Amino acid sequence: MTGRLDGKVALITGGASGLGEASVRLFVEEGARVIIADLQNERGEALAAEFGEAAIYQHVDVTQESDIAGAVDLAVAHFGRLDCTFNNAGIVGAVGPIDEIPIEEYDFTVSILLRGVFLGMKHSARVMKLQGHGSILSCSSVAGLIGGLGPHVYTAAKAALIGLTRNVASELIHHGIRVNCIAPGNIATPMIAGMVTGDPDDVERIAVALDSGSPIKNRGGRARDIAHAALYLASDDAAFVSGHTLVVDAGITTGSSHTPTSIFDSHSPLVREAGQRGIPTS
Ligand SMILES: NC(=O)c1ccc[n+]([C@@H]2O[C@H](COP(=O)([O-])OP(=O)(O)OC[C@H]3O[C@@H](n4cnc5c(N)ncnc54)[C@H](O)[C@@H]3O)[C@@H](O)[C@H]2O)c1
Repeated sequence: MTGRLDGKVALITGGASGLGEASVRLFVEEGARVIIADLQNERGEALAAEFGEAAIYQHVDVTQESDIAGAVDLAVAHFGRLDCTFNNAGIVGAVGPIDEIPIEEYDFTVSILLRGVFLGMKHSARVMKLQGHGSILSCSSVAGLIGGLGPHVYTAAKAALIGLTRNVASELIHHGIRVNCIAPGNIATPMIAGMVTGDPDDVERIAVALDSGSPIKNRGGRARDIAHAALYLASDDAAFVSGHTLVVDAGITTGSSHTPTSIFDSHSPLVREAGQRGIPTS
């Protein structure tokens, strides 16, 4: 523990599980007091109980404006301030071919992944503007950066969130508020376990699979990797960083995979233009 969030108060949506839970743990370790906002009451309450006075669980559905407003107000009423909001709650949502996705599934997915983040930004800004400082983070995804990595609606919402982050950042920086997002690659969490194995508690099996498929030898993504990114952006270490998308993916978006495949990786004669009439090589 280095006290990088000493005295700060954070609101973390989706804080009862996965990346949110890891962020709650790290933020408290680093000196923050945290509102854990989630739908999973049992998990959220058990997690908060581990931290005594430093954490409170609040039932929040991020799609409901009154729930988000209430969680923000609770931070101020109980802890006196709100220094950081991490809009992290999410689902995989609608899956399938573009011509088969029911519009209700589209609406449900977008309501959590985009409306929920919009509401988190809106109500955090409401109190952070009065304070004259704050850090708003959101959880995007590598799926929001390149095609083919996630389902369509998820991908669209995660890309939209990057645009929203940049735009809101351009407004709020004048109020001393930084707005950034994180784009994780595949991370072993209950969400991924539930999607792959059907059992959200089977995180260990996913972790083993991610270890063997990672560009970094035997090192797949862990929730703590994202918590560290959130810690950086929430802390004063990132005091000059706003509008940024911090990619945490072991290089997947650079084209890396667990097997080196580039034909350009080994040295070969200089490759020139057809006809070789350009600049001489010797
Ligand atoms: N795990 C990954 O590989 C990965 C990669 C990229 C991005 N993400 C993003 O990370 C975030 C966290 O995902 P995770 O992998 O930790 O999943 P998770 O399922 O372990 O945790 C998500 C949490 O969000 C909560 N939640 C869902 N809907 C909610 C709602 N309407 N209101 C309040 N809380 C709600 C859930 O109850 C759960 O506790 C999501 O936004 C996800 O899209 C995850």
